[in-house]
Amino acid sequence: MAVAGSSRALALLLLPLLVASQAAQREPELRFGPAPRQRPVRLFTEAELGGYDGREEDQPIYIAVKGVVFDVTSGKEFYGKGAPYNALVGKDSTRGIAKMSLDPEDLTHDTTGLTEEELKSLDETFNNVYKAKYPIVGYTARRILNEDGSPNPNFKPEDQPHFTIKDEF
Ligand code: HEM
Repeated sequence: MAVAGSSRALALLLLPLLVASQAAQREPELRFGPAPRQRPVRLFTEAELGGYDGREEDQPIYIAVKGVVFDVTSGKEFYGKGAPYNALVGKDSTRGIAKMSLDPEDLTHDTTGLTEEELKSLDETFNNVYKAKYPIVGYTARRILNEDGSPNPNFKPEDQPHFTIKDEF
């Protein structure tokens, strides 16, 4: 009886410690300092995008598809200088991707006259290759702005996974 009593007393003594330590485990870790920064979305003019065509060894390599600019540096064996798909980079190659063509006249953002099948193929490659494999670094100016520089009201930043209006504008 005395033994049972003292072990109950011990349990009562230890209980608050146990509760406190469990609470400490649940408590989110407090950190001070600046909030983690997300890289801001960039807007690329054609000339700017042209600087990321794999010519310079230590420059990143960018391609735009459907006006979304991807960093394809990790695919250097496809896109780097002298690689088979180097012609696609440093520009918006939407049409070439849709038609699986490296013909210089297809290396454009222009999708005029593409067939249903080509548009479907474009979306498949856009989703299953580019969005799946490569980080998005921005948009072509053309996708966001009209020809006269006014904002394009149809622009929806749905393709930018970390996009929030507050961060970018
Ligand atoms: C004889 C013709 C071709 C062959 C044998 C071929 C072969 C391949 C192979 C094997 C891959 C997959 C590589 C991998 O994921 O490891 C690939 C990827 C690709 N091919 Fe081709 N290809 C050809 C023509 C073309 C053409 C004309 C285009 C024009 C746009 C093209 C665009 C692409 C693209 C965009 C990828 C994805 C690269 C990436 O993952 O970033 N291919 N090709």
